[in-house]
Amino acid sequence: MSEIVYLNGKFLPIEEAHVPVLDRGFIFGDGVYEVIPVYSKHPFRLAEHLRRLQYSLDKVRISDPFSETEWTQLVADIVGRNAGEDQSVYLQVTRGVAKRDHAFPKGVKPTVFMMSNPLVTPAPALVESGVACISAQDYRWLNCDIKSVSLLGNCLLRQLSADVGATETILFRDGQLTEASASNVFVVRDGVLLTPPKDHLVLPGITYDVVLEIARAREFQVEVRAVSEAEVRNADEIWVTSSTKEVLAVTMLDGKPVGDGKPGPLFRRMHALYQQFKQDHMRKAA
Ligand code: PDD
Repeated sequence: MSEIVYLNGKFLPIEEAHVPVLDRGFIFGDGVYEVIPVYSKHPFRLAEHLRRLQYSLDKVRISDPFSETEWTQLVADIVGRNAGEDQSVYLQVTRGVAKRDHAFPKGVKPTVFMMSNPLVTPAPALVESGVACISAQDYRWLNCDIKSVSLLGNCLLRQLSADVGATETILFRDGQLTEASASNVFVVRDGVLLTPPKDHLVLPGITYDVVLEIARAREFQVEVRAVSEAEVRNADEIWVTSSTKEVLAVTMLDGKPVGDGKPGPLFRRMHALYQQFKQDHMRKAA
């Protein structure tokens, strides 16, 4: 089955999907997006992803082209038309096509694009070993809560870790942890799970919410508060979370082992609980 994508009202093979060069997504990075993991053909936390999409659209003043029911149907359609039980749905809305001018054009229809790829979650060996990360100063803009397609800052920061074969770039702003280039970050110190609150400096991760929910339900000690760079550097455990990484242990930061250099006990527990949560809420529902 060749990959079928959705573009402005039509489902078509990806090779046939084209966007005009004056699309503001291309010219200005003027658009927002979502990445929704799909397990056993069921989109994970779809309502929450659609709520975050609505939030991003509102923040950049693009009117939502679809109702929640319509989005739900479109996501089901794209999943149904693509092969594989586990998929990763990417959807993007840009302000549309208009003569180049920074100010918003009037009366232009947003461009809507969706595709779905096989969901590739971390291999068991990686879950077992943990991953290496580096750190960098977070020089992105001050609206990191918007899931914007303007990702040049994130791409440049991610490339710093890619250049040295590391998995992620963990970011600090003014001496405080924010997030990583494409994930949220948790740390464990003295048995307490710490993570920064959701504000304008971080993307409000759907996986972040799930991890916090599980942690609280299982009576982990949790503190959602500012986390200093020093606390991260001396952490017993560091985790990164995202829709595609799920929960992954960071066992090296800037070439130094985190804790004893192996995925820690709280990580092991959370990873198992997360897999169980998926099993209970997605696979069995299927
Ligand atoms: N990225 N922070 C940033 C900067 C991200 O780009 C992402 C996700 C997250 C985690 O959010 P969630 O748990 O909702 O996936 C945090 C996606 C996967 C991407 O851009 O591919």
